Amino acid sequence: MASKNPRRNGGRRSKWAAAALIGIGLLVTGGGYAGATAAMAASDSSSTTSTLTVEDGKKLFQANCATCHGLNLEGTNDGPSLYGVGELSVEFQVATGRMPLQMQGPQAPQKPVQFTQEQIEAMAAWVQSEAPGPTYPESEVLDGEGDVSHGAEEVVRQVRPMRGHEVDGLHRA
Ligand code: HEC
Repeated sequence: MASKNPRRNGGRRSKWAAAALIGIGLLVTGGGYAGATAAMAASDSSSTTSTLTVEDGKKLFQANCATCHGLNLEGTNDGPSLYGVGELSVEFQVATGRMPLQMQGPQAPQKPVQFTQEQIEAMAAWVQSEAPGPTYPESEVLDGEGDVSHGAEEVVRQVRPMRGHEVDGLHRA
């Protein structure tokens, strides 16, 4: 969007994306979602031309994630199955440094991001191809021209498939 190929400088971008996403954790969900869309708008995922393939993503996943999530996403005692989790969740978890997890805890801590944006997207694409789940928001959601008054509905629509029913409590007062 903003530039011709905004995903290329992955390392640097993911740092900023991570910074934006840290903020999200601290904000209420509605405001946080605005931050997320801003971070993602900057990297317009739908028109990515990555040099990495889905097959590369599979290899990266199997080398870095499969010990806990299984070679075929089936899960292990150390990590849940990723069936139906979707590429957006993979992108979020890895681009914020939560994954790969090093230590079990009540909530995966943020750490320095360990992969380039291209590597992250390749892994996400492989997970998506194996067991599809929620994907990146449409560009119309990211262009910043949405109607704020419909923001809460949009959050519920996008987030509910990932987080289960707890976002039902998000209805506006
Ligand atoms: C040491 C074990 C371990 C490793 C290595 C690991 N994970 Fe995880 N992962 C977990 C655990 C445990 C959870 C659930 C806990 C949580 O969400 O905080 C999880 C959660 C996730 C989720 C969220 C699942 C959901 O239902 O929303 C995604 C996506 C994910 N991991 C992707 C990855 C990717 C991609 C890698 C490799 C870059 C990776 N993980 C490496 C243990 C691990």
